[in-house]
Amino acid sequence: MSTAGPPQGAHRSAQREGCSVSTAGPPQGAHRSAQREGIAVGTRPRAPPGPDATRAILSPWLTRTSTGPRRLVAPGPDAAECALLLQAAQNVSDHGRLRPCRIVLADTDQRERYAAAFLAHAAAARGLASPALLDAQVRDDERAKAFNAPCLLSVVARIASDVPQVPPHEQWMSVGASLGALLGAATALGYAGKALSGARAAHPAVRAVACGEGEVLACFVYLGSRPPTC
Ligand SMILES: Cc1cc2nc3c(=O)[nH]c(=O)nc-3n(C[C@H](O)[C@H](O)[C@H](O)COP(=O)(O)O)c2cc1C
Repeated sequence: MSTAGPPQGAHRSAQREGCSVSTAGPPQGAHRSAQREGIAVGTRPRAPPGPDATRAILSPWLTRTSTGPRRLVAPGPDAAECALLLQAAQNVSDHGRLRPCRIVLADTDQRERYAAAFLAHAAAARGLASPALLDAQVRDDERAKAFNAPCLLSVVARIASDVPQVPPHEQWMSVGASLGALLGAATALGYAGKALSGARAAHPAVRAVACGEGEVLACFVYLGSRPPTC
């Protein structure tokens, strides 16, 4: 579930990092046992649900709104839930099965590396030669961005330019579908979150934390719970 540095091969690295890279829905065994228990998997119920039930079923998609990282509190998704969220994010429409999206869950070590990279970006953005020259408050704020929220994920895109039948815009659509599935599934589990990119996501030191050669850090996703007052 935890993460390491840039990948050698996207699939192999995603597997090392606990991402589900080749699943296409729940395993057959799960289907069969759900059917034995009378639970319809991926099928419409015989009698259509009423409007209230329909709204309840769709509520994660009808009611989702973003909550920023500074407001997100514990609990966040646990390891088993994160594995399911990654599975949902991989199980999206994907022309040619190119797997243009990889989602990386940050462990403490990776958050530390993001903190250092955010400081490098902040210094560069201010024309400073070193993060040590940053104002103390700016340093604290930048570090906090790497540690806010119980769960930090990186959405990493690898867009192939040599597959004429699957042009880049189709691959980006699949990356967006993965982001949507991730946020929808997290909402369905009762969590909140937000996708964020900004200039720092494009900074080479930041990108290098989770991306390999030819990959783009499409955005961060912060997940957790809304504070009780929200
Ligand atoms: C890839 C991506 C990157 C984003 N980056 C930012 C960002 O850097 N800053 C920001 O304020 N919103 C960003 N957003 C938008 C927010 O995640 C959020 O969707 C927006 O504030 C609207 O709020 P809502 O989701 O509650 O409708 C980004 C969205 C996407 C899909």
